[in-house]
Amino acid sequence: MKKILVTGGLGFIGSHTAVELQNAGFEVVIIDDLSNAKLEVLNNISKITGKTPEFHQIDLKKKDQVVAFFENNTIDGIIHFAAFKAVGESVQKPLEYYENNIGSLVYLLQEMRDRKLDNFIFSSSCTVYGQADELPITENAPIKPAESPYGNTKQVGEEIIQDTCKANGLNAIALRYFNPIGAHETANIGELPLGVPQNLIPYVTQTAAGIREQLSVFGDDYNTPDGTAIRDYIHVVDLAKAHIAALNRLLSKKNDTNFEVFNVGTGKGSSVLEIVKAFEKATNQNLNYKIVERRAGDITAAYADTTIANEKLNWKTEKTLEEALLSAWKWQTNQV
Ligand code: WQD
Repeated sequence: MKKILVTGGLGFIGSHTAVELQNAGFEVVIIDDLSNAKLEVLNNISKITGKTPEFHQIDLKKKDQVVAFFENNTIDGIIHFAAFKAVGESVQKPLEYYENNIGSLVYLLQEMRDRKLDNFIFSSSCTVYGQADELPITENAPIKPAESPYGNTKQVGEEIIQDTCKANGLNAIALRYFNPIGAHETANIGELPLGVPQNLIPYVTQTAAGIREQLSVFGDDYNTPDGTAIRDYIHVVDLAKAHIAALNRLLSKKNDTNFEVFNVGTGKGSSVLEIVKAFEKATNQNLNYKIVERRAGDITAAYADTTIANEKLNWKTEKTLEEALLSAWKWQTNQV
């Protein structure tokens, strides 16, 4: 049985990926520092799969802790999610973001090099494209200057991995996620935003649940059919499965070059108002919303060209937007 390390494995995408790894027959080892996750997620993973992953509470920006882990564990691959991810906060605390997101990455790669470990999957973001000049966005679209220190950690992270692949023969894949939403169909795991949600779907579900009074739709004067901004919302379970596909590509040595990037989205864009309507329809809830000013830093539209991911990873999305929204709602109503 191949043993896969999932860093940040108690987080939103990490926990769903841990489940899919177990379902696919991998042995999962999770590292998490619990800075933005709860230990009970471990138990909730095992409720779904019947197996509790091995867990280590480790702070990856502490090199001695990273070294100690690798001294005692041999692994066949790493899926690296552990990172700070709040765009706004990163503008206020750039050094914390660089220390955490870049430091942890460098220490992991050093251990992989020194111990001759291989197969690294990196959690990257469509944010590297900024407002792309052409839609849908292909992997060849130019990288735009990062809008935030968070976004910059993803760009620099990809470069660090690419340099390491070149110098040390590491094989790696960066997955550029579009907008992950939804939850596991069992509602045992899902997204747990801290405080007031910044992302659309948690704000929508919390508003429908009465936790927030009203959803603000940020701007209806964009150059889009209904004036609201367009994104590519992908079900987190489909996204999780893309990691298994990428891992299998590396493990079976099917990769074309030793550093590859793939877009992971649905290929379909939805506007904020389309999301509101789809949520209302899928859940039979009325959503209280109003149009307000644009949010600073938001782009008009982003959705993926998934041709390369579909072909090379032999992966495609299986779930609909409605299923994603319904699963997010089921998760929301399962809280408290
Ligand atoms: C989606 C749309 C908002 C909240 C995300 C991640 C970011 C990066 C890229 C990872 C936008 C609108 C939102 C609300 C709204 N991912 N909106 N009212 O901005 O695409 O960024 O993907 O690297 O980290 O956050 O996602 O969910 O914040 O917004 O109208 O209360 O919904 O303006 O058009 P975004 P989002």
